[in-house]
Amino acid sequence: MSALLPDTVLALFNERMAAAAEAGEHEPNAMCLSTVKGDGVSSRMVLLKAWDERGFVFYTNLESDKGQQLHTRPRAALNFHWKSVEQQVRVEGRVEAVSANDADAYFASRPRGSQLGAWASDQSRPLSDRQELLDRVAALEAQYSDGPVPRPPHWSGFRVLPSMIEFWLGGSSRLHDRDRYTFDGERWQRSRLFP
Ligand SMILES: Cc1cc2nc3c(=O)[nH]c(=O)nc-3n(C[C@H](O)[C@H](O)[C@H](O)COP(=O)(O)O)c2cc1C
Repeated sequence: MSALLPDTVLALFNERMAAAAEAGEHEPNAMCLSTVKGDGVSSRMVLLKAWDERGFVFYTNLESDKGQQLHTRPRAALNFHWKSVEQQVRVEGRVEAVSANDADAYFASRPRGSQLGAWASDQSRPLSDRQELLDRVAALEAQYSDGPVPRPPHWSGFRVLPSMIEFWLGGSSRLHDRDRYTFDGERWQRSRLFP
């Protein structure tokens, strides 16, 4: 179950993200993404590239381990940890593909090296030798010359549609603040949790 985030909750996320950036947090948009891997789980960092009341968007290789896991089980958990402001935000929910238009627009905004890298990398597959990757990039540079680099068909984005979002604020003596918002199928409920 998922629903649009209430304005107040989105504003709280925006406020905390801005405070982390203001405090000099390096890449405050870095988040741990957890996915379902068979009967286990798998985690890695990705970068949040867009967010609004619908949810939280990141981009990746659709054929990577995470891409395949999300195809099979479209559910995920996100975790932001902003050390400098002693804050954590957790998100859980269903996952959907972003539109081709959104993916095209974001891909076009990326540095050229990252665009070529998206073509060159068979993300999560074995690589026998780093030179193989560098050779692929060199070949792609020659292929596209100065022309535009199209978005690879295997590269796009996912949106995590929150059904839970929790804001954690570190306190002294481990007396932290936890505010959790859960969508119960009809409305968002706010609850305060023991730390
Ligand atoms: C700070 C940071 C940000 C990252 N951002 C992304 C990202 O936005 N997309 C991505 O596909 N991989 C990103 N990576 C690499 C992933 O953590 C991971 O190594 C890669 O996506 C392969 O994951 P998988 O084999 O589980 O699919 C990032 C790594 C770090 C450390």
